[in-house]
Amino acid sequence: SKPSFSNANFPTTPEGRTYHLGTKGGEVANRILSVGATQRAELLSKLLDPPPNGGQLFRYLSSRGFLTVTGEYQGTPISIVSTQMGMPNMDFVVRECRAVVEGPMAVVRLGTCGALQPPASLGQLIIAHSSINIRRNPDAWSDLSTASMLPAYMFTLPVQADPHIVRLLAEEASSTMGASNVISGLNATADSFYSSQGRVGGNFDDRNEGLIEEMCEKYPDMVSLEMETFHLLDMARCSGGRVRAAGMCLALADRKSNEMLEYARLEQLEVEAGLAALRALIKTDLD
Ligand code: URA
Repeated sequence: SKPSFSNANFPTTPEGRTYHLGTKGGEVANRILSVGATQRAELLSKLLDPPPNGGQLFRYLSSRGFLTVTGEYQGTPISIVSTQMGMPNMDFVVRECRAVVEGPMAVVRLGTCGALQPPASLGQLIIAHSSINIRRNPDAWSDLSTASMLPAYMFTLPVQADPHIVRLLAEEASSTMGASNVISGLNATADSFYSSQGRVGGNFDDRNEGLIEEMCEKYPDMVSLEMETFHLLDMARCSGGRVRAAGMCLALADRKSNEMLEYARLEQLEVEAGLAALRALIKTDLD
């Protein structure tokens, strides 16, 4: 039967389960690895310590498709949460995990992204030292006569990742993947995989033909394009120091050559990058 929720301001079940992730206090660790796909959460959960006495890791798959797996990595509690894609889903993950975890939290996102310009290239792990948000501006399409003066896409100021976690991620990823396969730079989180990431096609009036060139010119340090990191860092900024966060992503699309990474190679890179994320999370100083 469906659980009943109370308090429309922050809905929970009588036992304290949240609305989208469905977890409650005691089920989520204060160190969280957020990944973009349920399959990646399953894959990386195999890196956690085997539970004692042949037991099982804690697993909860919510009705909305968010999977939380909680266990330990080298004796430190960790949760792996599948965040799926986009800023609203990242919002659910950060807010609903924050609501059920006590004390300070660290969140690392491991996702996938497009490689925008050198030094970024296909198959690399790209760590965001900071991120901006790129949004389609719907007002530019309005019928008002002033609409034609408005930019079709808007860029925010950058928000910084936690420098301590960024340093740990760079160290750990260099050791699991090789330093030449790891770079860091400015990330851009877009509100679409298509329009605001400069993908062009004939079905919609997206007005984004020069967008990739505009980004590269305006931000020579911008290397990765995806849909979540900015919001994670923005939430951390607004958490009063109670959430520390960083994001990194594997480049599976090359936005200059239009090449895509083979799936078999992605899975191996996910494990190497996932291991680096877990090692960085357990070394993160939360006091
Ligand atoms: N994820 C994105 O958002 N964009 C890409 O190009 C690849 C992965």
